[in-house]
Amino acid sequence: MHRRCLEVPVYAAILSLGVSAAASVAHAAPPEASSHTVTWDRYSLLIDGRRIWLWSAEFHYFRLPAPELWRDLLEKLKAAGFNAVSLYFSWAYHSPAAGMYDFSGVRDVDRLLDMAREVGLYVLARPGRYNNGELDSGGFPGWLSTQRGQARTHAGDYRAAWEEWFDHINPIIARHQLVDGGGSVVLFQVENEYDRGDAIYMQELTSAARADGIRVPIFHNDKGRNLIWSTGPGAPDLYATDTYPAGFDCHRTTFPALTDYRFLRAGVGQRPFIWGEFQGGAFDPWGGPGYERCRALTGTTFERLFYANNIENQFTVQNLYMVYGGTSWGWQADPNVVYTSYDYGAAFNEQRELTEKVPVLQQHGYLVASVRDLAETDDLGVQQGANPAVRVWVKENPRTRARFYFVRHADGASSSNDVTPLTIDVPDGRYSTSVRVNGRDSKILAAGYDLLHQRLVYSTSEILTHADAGDRDVAVLHGRQGEAGETVLRYASEPRLRVIAGEVRSRWDAARGDLRLDYVHSGLGRVRLSGGGRPPLELVLADGEAAASFWRVDSDAGPLLARGPYLVRSAERRGDALWLRGDTGRPSPLEVFAPPEVRSLYWNGRRVHNGRVPGPAPVSLPVLRDWRYRRDVAEIEPLFDDSDWARADRRSTNNPTRPTTLPVLYADDYGYHYGDVWYRGRFDGEAAGITLGAATGRAGVWSAWLNGAHLGTVNTGTANGDQSSSRKFAFPAGAARADGTNVIAVLVRNMGHNENGGSNDHHKAPRGLLGASLDASDAPLAWRIRGAAPSPKGALRGPQNGGGLHGESAGYTLPGFADTAWSKVTLPHRDAAPGIAWYRTTVRLALPRDQDVTVGLRFDDDPARHYRVLLFVNGWNMGQLINDIGPQRIFTLHQGILAHRGDNTIALAVWSADGQTGGLGNVSLEVLGNYATMPR
Ligand code: GAL
Repeated sequence: MHRRCLEVPVYAAILSLGVSAAASVAHAAPPEASSHTVTWDRYSLLIDGRRIWLWSAEFHYFRLPAPELWRDLLEKLKAAGFNAVSLYFSWAYHSPAAGMYDFSGVRDVDRLLDMAREVGLYVLARPGRYNNGELDSGGFPGWLSTQRGQARTHAGDYRAAWEEWFDHINPIIARHQLVDGGGSVVLFQVENEYDRGDAIYMQELTSAARADGIRVPIFHNDKGRNLIWSTGPGAPDLYATDTYPAGFDCHRTTFPALTDYRFLRAGVGQRPFIWGEFQGGAFDPWGGPGYERCRALTGTTFERLFYANNIENQFTVQNLYMVYGGTSWGWQADPNVVYTSYDYGAAFNEQRELTEKVPVLQQHGYLVASVRDLAETDDLGVQQGANPAVRVWVKENPRTRARFYFVRHADGASSSNDVTPLTIDVPDGRYSTSVRVNGRDSKILAAGYDLLHQRLVYSTSEILTHADAGDRDVAVLHGRQGEAGETVLRYASEPRLRVIAGEVRSRWDAARGDLRLDYVHSGLGRVRLSGGGRPPLELVLADGEAAASFWRVDSDAGPLLARGPYLVRSAERRGDALWLRGDTGRPSPLEVFAPPEVRSLYWNGRRVHNGRVPGPAPVSLPVLRDWRYRRDVAEIEPLFDDSDWARADRRSTNNPTRPTTLPVLYADDYGYHYGDVWYRGRFDGEAAGITLGAATGRAGVWSAWLNGAHLGTVNTGTANGDQSSSRKFAFPAGAARADGTNVIAVLVRNMGHNENGGSNDHHKAPRGLLGASLDASDAPLAWRIRGAAPSPKGALRGPQNGGGLHGESAGYTLPGFADTAWSKVTLPHRDAAPGIAWYRTTVRLALPRDQDVTVGLRFDDDPARHYRVLLFVNGWNMGQLINDIGPQRIFTLHQGILAHRGDNTIALAVWSADGQTGGLGNVSLEVLGNYATMPR
């Protein structure tokens, strides 16, 4: 019996602690004493007793195979206002075979968790077993597809497998827990969207996690807000849910009305509302409209409405999926839903640039980080008497009585009727004003709020952030360009007002002690207020664009505000100097709202003069030339020696899909889980033809030859359910030898396995040949098979990098391979032979060291040409172009995979589908981004 079976009683103790804890005000999840605590009440999580709004961004390290860039990305998330990062851990990425695990190099998650702590991000650890995530098998390793027991149940073989994974990943996560003082992991997700109802399984998981040393609160991510695993046997400490209200069809331009989630309270009880995932973009399938459309669908309007609604609904843990998507390089993608790029239309694009979606995230993120009163609010309900076309929802902090007014259009209301009277009712008094929501907009207004040393009676501008600059408070308020704003501050006596920029009118109400400022949001207005019985205030009144130029940076002395550059990453005081690190895409102004003791400013290690910082030097890339070419289908020849291939002779399989003929030809049953698989079948004597069935996953391809002659190539297609195909090939007259042995050669591309979101074992849907039968012949077919051997532990590029093409094992993809005997060709190159041909070249780059340049590989050709390309850069499989399906034509080559100073080998495996339109179009390098930066 496995040790975990003995520990169910321990789990039960933990469970009852979690449940009874949920009834009191704030309670510790971890059962033992620790250096830090993560607790919760109905409003939010509390870290060391302090209320926190966890504003989290999902990021997949396995989609960015360059650890140095992890830090870049984490720093960007932090700068954009996130205080947490959520990490799926991909079991498949680490495990080439049962019992084999690799956590080195691009798989070094220990290093990743260190980086998250160093950058100052809390971590939501989501180690699977099952992820989904548009991943091959949803993140299950390939070897799991041959198990007999049903996955995601308490079946014994499945349990033995996930326990193995847990035993490897959990100790790593455990030593990075905040509660032990070792790291910043604050939450642990035990299953993802699991609605099968196997409570024994759920109990086993939680029990195992606890036994592995996980002491932070554990949650499950419920797909449907159905309160599944909220309470009862198998329910972990916390309930979380996910939703994607805009959906995943990026042809669309509209999204549905907002939802009120307060109905969850009855089931969630005295625990906070948690979005395990909330839509941050959308995936795009083969042949889809492309990620810019996904970015538009989930753009600033979506962000403003939906994330403000989440704040209103008190989701004090919100994890946006994705904020950086990255690249499903190698064979990581689930082919049904995505191609190589997993850009996701996210706020940061695949090349790690900030898109137009960042500023709204930043506004919300800075707001919940600065205005801590927001994390503890009760609903006062809709404000009556307002314009019925506009909905005003009021919330109040029960301790401070600060109020928050959430203003947006009522569902279905016309967006032209957009001004509403607003009554502000706070301890400071009752005020009548009006507020505008132009188009589909949403605003969060604060009133009766202690803003540092000031008293904000109310403002019709939103708070971006505020910070103590030593000799003064700095507050940044913002509104839409051209809209009027009104801000009222309370003083003991009339303060002195100096307008530094913009037009700001003021009125002093001596009876109430109110200073009222009136202005229009346009660029950057600024006033300084002093006297009146309070420390000075520097008030910045920004329109959207000006607000987007601000950065709130953590420093030893608390948050610090800076503005101007594309990105500000960090700030550090050294004596009377302030050292900033950040990025610029062009020469930029830099202004810092620093204490007066700061006398000099450094930017990326250089002294700043005249308040300006430099941009990057322009870069150019060499033209790709000196291409070498080789056709590479020796496997189709009758005399090819396949004696070292495995015999495909199994008569039975665990697979729930029964084979149509025997022997079993499923690639997974022979240990070949990824990429291309070759089959060679021998039969004696004449036959009229052959019927073959093959399963590739969506957008796949397979080709068949008889004795070296091409019988045909089948494209699986991109329609829903296009996973497999069967074809009857008639043998050309005389092609099959009557007096000897004939060889059928078949090459099948496995595009990846299905996900298993429904816990229905769909990841086991077979890949490779499904069956084969000769026409007009009873001769037996004797098969051999060759795919990629699982890469051994420590193999740099991992199990999902390679398939069974000859060139992959022969080293064509690697630097240093001698291709001098290959033909010289220039691109575009036309090739009339169906099947595989390789193109290779090398290119030397000399890109500047202190610039963050992202390089892409671009393919240009007429989409009417029927071929596809697997692209390898220095041996790394960086994706697949399907010329006649698209939409992806530019592939991001992350720095680290691509040597920015040195030689690079580009090897392209081209599969030409027909005898006419094969070959390769133009291939070029392209600069996708260029920023001056200073990596840490
Ligand atoms: C969720 C799932 C994620 C991802 C997402 C869509 O339902 O939990 O793993 O698949 O959908 O991108």
